[in-house]
Amino acid sequence: MTQELSPIDKAKFVAARRSVDYIEDGMRVGLGTGSTAAWMVRCLGERMREEGLRITGVPTSSRTADLARKMGIKVVSLDEAKWLDVTIDGADEFDGDLNLIKGGGGALLQEKIVATASDRMVVITDSAKEVKTLGAFPLPLEVIPFGWQTTRALIEETLVNMDVLGREVSLRMNDDVPYMTDEGNYILDLHLRRIGNPRQLSLVVNQVPGIVENGLFIDIADVVVIGHGDGAVEVR
Ligand code: 5RP
Repeated sequence: MTQELSPIDKAKFVAARRSVDYIEDGMRVGLGTGSTAAWMVRCLGERMREEGLRITGVPTSSRTADLARKMGIKVVSLDEAKWLDVTIDGADEFDGDLNLIKGGGGALLQEKIVATASDRMVVITDSAKEVKTLGAFPLPLEVIPFGWQTTRALIEETLVNMDVLGREVSLRMNDDVPYMTDEGNYILDLHLRRIGNPRQLSLVVNQVPGIVENGLFIDIADVVVIGHGDGAVEVR
């Protein structure tokens, strides 16, 4: 499975492989989105085949749902599962308090709903994503297409009073058209460079009409499994 992986992919793979140790027979598991989460779904499928585990998965995107079915994982909706034992998902940045930026893959809304409806969230990541202060990675906001330019202007105004360094707001594009989420919404990426108070920022941006959710995960993650390029794994 791991022949010819670059150090970064190896780091993602070893974190993903270790994370499936948190899964036990009969569990309902939230399945994250992104390249690290995709490794986890493959590793879980392999473990299920080898050990005969019965797992029910709630995917956080249509991409993950397709992969999970391919790997033989039973897929149900969150409302069918009702509550989850654990969610395993990647992140774009994490800090020492396990606060995260997520949504680089555009799935932040389902990811936040699913992680919040879980007893435990396990984050899987390579070591390069650890930061002292969040914000070098652009913060994604999921925004309703109706009036999105007005919403962007309101966000820009809101940022003036926030403890951030940059204020550029860009509409995420896919080829020449706006990127569209599984919910049919757009993504605005906030280039803030430094987020001094992530908890406050998260509360404030979610007050702006038109914003559905933001990619800050505050007090949601419980464990981080960090992979290194040499194959070592750290758990915190
Ligand atoms: C998707 C996400 C991903 O977890 C995040 O972008 C990390 O992705 P990758 O594992 O590919 O580095 O939040 O919305």
